[in-house]
Amino acid sequence: MHYPYQIKSLEDYRNIYERSVQDPELFWSDIADHFTWRKKWNRVLQWEFHTPKVEWFIGGKLNITENCIDRHLIHHADAPAIIWEPNDPNEKFRKISYRELHREVCMVAAVLRKLGVKKGDRVCIYMGMIPELTIAALACARIGAIHSIVFGGFSAESISDRIQDAHAEFVICCDGAYRGSKIIDLKAIVDDALTSCSFVKKVLVYQRTKTEVTMHTGRDVWWHEIRNETDSVTALQIPAEEMDSEDPLFILYTSGSTGKPKGVVHTCAGYMVYTHYSFVNVFQYTIDDVHFCTADIGWITGHSYIIYGPLSAGATSLMFEGIPTWPDAGRFWSIVDKHQVNILYTAPTAIRSLMTFGLVPFQNKNLSSLKVLGSVGEPINEEAWHWYHEHAGKNKCPIVDTWWQTETGGILISNLAGVTPEKPTFATLPLPGIQALLMDEDGHVITENNKIGYLCMKFPWPGIMRTTYGNHELCRRTYFEKFTDLYFTGDGAFRDENGFYRITGRVDDVLKISGHRIGTAEVENVINMHPDIVESAVVGYHHEIKGQAIYAFVVNNGHKRIENELRNEINHNLSEHIGPIVKADKIQFVSGLPKTRSGKIMRRILRKIAEGELENLGDTTTLLDPAIVEEIIKGRQ
Ligand code: WT7
Repeated sequence: MHYPYQIKSLEDYRNIYERSVQDPELFWSDIADHFTWRKKWNRVLQWEFHTPKVEWFIGGKLNITENCIDRHLIHHADAPAIIWEPNDPNEKFRKISYRELHREVCMVAAVLRKLGVKKGDRVCIYMGMIPELTIAALACARIGAIHSIVFGGFSAESISDRIQDAHAEFVICCDGAYRGSKIIDLKAIVDDALTSCSFVKKVLVYQRTKTEVTMHTGRDVWWHEIRNETDSVTALQIPAEEMDSEDPLFILYTSGSTGKPKGVVHTCAGYMVYTHYSFVNVFQYTIDDVHFCTADIGWITGHSYIIYGPLSAGATSLMFEGIPTWPDAGRFWSIVDKHQVNILYTAPTAIRSLMTFGLVPFQNKNLSSLKVLGSVGEPINEEAWHWYHEHAGKNKCPIVDTWWQTETGGILISNLAGVTPEKPTFATLPLPGIQALLMDEDGHVITENNKIGYLCMKFPWPGIMRTTYGNHELCRRTYFEKFTDLYFTGDGAFRDENGFYRITGRVDDVLKISGHRIGTAEVENVINMHPDIVESAVVGYHHEIKGQAIYAFVVNNGHKRIENELRNEINHNLSEHIGPIVKADKIQFVSGLPKTRSGKIMRRILRKIAEGELENLGDTTTLLDPAIVEEIIKGRQ
């Protein structure tokens, strides 16, 4: 495949950017013209941010899987779509060509239809990182069902919350998942989740680990059994469902400042065009390159840059089932060597964790195939950037620092590999079509360099979220209310003299722990469920490897308890209610929290105490009980 819209020089970028801002509709419709449509759109864009309402390629009809699979069958059928590297390096890897992917997606689409899944139905997917996860997602898209993929590190309660919120009547899972030396019993967790979701009609179970599971008669179906009963000739003949541009493609839950995660909704056409365009340009993908994104498909990075971006480009997407440090910390480098990886896209937290193992893991690994490195999920610190550049990239690979969010669908601010300049710790310039700006607290646009402000967008791009599932007002309040007619990202940033953006981090109550997005309110809700706890306040503090970690200030009810016991119970609850990915690293018991007279917790003070910035706590005179601050400082963990 050839990408005529691939930007090839800085000058090119400047011209195209200019054009994209002058006439966004013309710009995006020229790109959208390169896709396979059942019917072209009759209007490019309709939007207003205050409602919000955003519609792209209005009246267009398509199926995203015809763009991600069928159109590649003409010249590219035998090229690998997916290379799958298992958890255990001794297990054989798999290569799945576009032809095979087509067949499997059609088969599973037929299976889902047989199970009663219809267009518009929600399907919750809770699986490990195996090709069948990609196949399941694409099979949903093939028949117009809306997938809601839940990351394997979430608990039964988190799954049932998501299933209920989306009213998903169908679930696809595995018996178990391998993760380093462990097996996670996914099916048992799903069974637990479904005790509060009796409306779920069918659970399709893929056998991966051969872990013993309980199959509920009438509800649970083995993937291999029903697939083998399905006639492939008929399955391959069933046409893909014709979807409207603005029909939902998937829901993905993400944390915000509210107590419950929100279901971010992305639609078929705009998301497809945007993930494709950003993939091809940021990574400068050329055909036959092997693209290895190490993210889990349970997060947006996996949706956009393992599945939809790469496959819509006819790329080879490498999926990895394991973890970076098992059986040893050279796992990434072995994979790069073994599969001749050209593009490696990972997270700063993974880089920092690998840094602690020194250079031995690089021994005897040939990394000469690498052309481009990428970073995503949180700000990358200077030290990690240089280490990545030197030891993975051997000082010859550009690093793309890609800034974006679940809500944005794809990368909005990033250098384009080898095409636009890079600057360590800076995401640099917005992609064409992206009109970024910084706002101050009073709602004025910041024009000065090096001044931190709120990062906003003033014009829609095709990949922007359309709503939060079942609660449009929540979407408006969260993203479109703080600044009139702007999309507010929740991040702070500044711009240098070149106009390069540097993201400084979240300005709301959202933490980034090992790149995972966790709302402090969610954590507090769980902590407060403990009968011996009256209230709590959770903030983030700097952590060498995870980027941020959780510091909880907890008020207990006066019952004499051994503190470490109570700490363990709190962490046990977090794991049970949210998932094993959430743990409070520091828990300090206090007799009260710093509150204003109106009862508002002064988090600013707690954040500073957690970071150890004890001078300059700011104005504490408005506190109800200023003495509490002294007590908290004394007991700092
Ligand atoms: C938040 C979004 C983007 C996909 C994975 C995370 C932070 C993301 C960067 C970056 C600095 C970054 C922001 C953003 N973030 N990429 N390159 N530099 N910060 O998606 O879970 O929706 O999180 O991740 O704070 O708001 P997400």
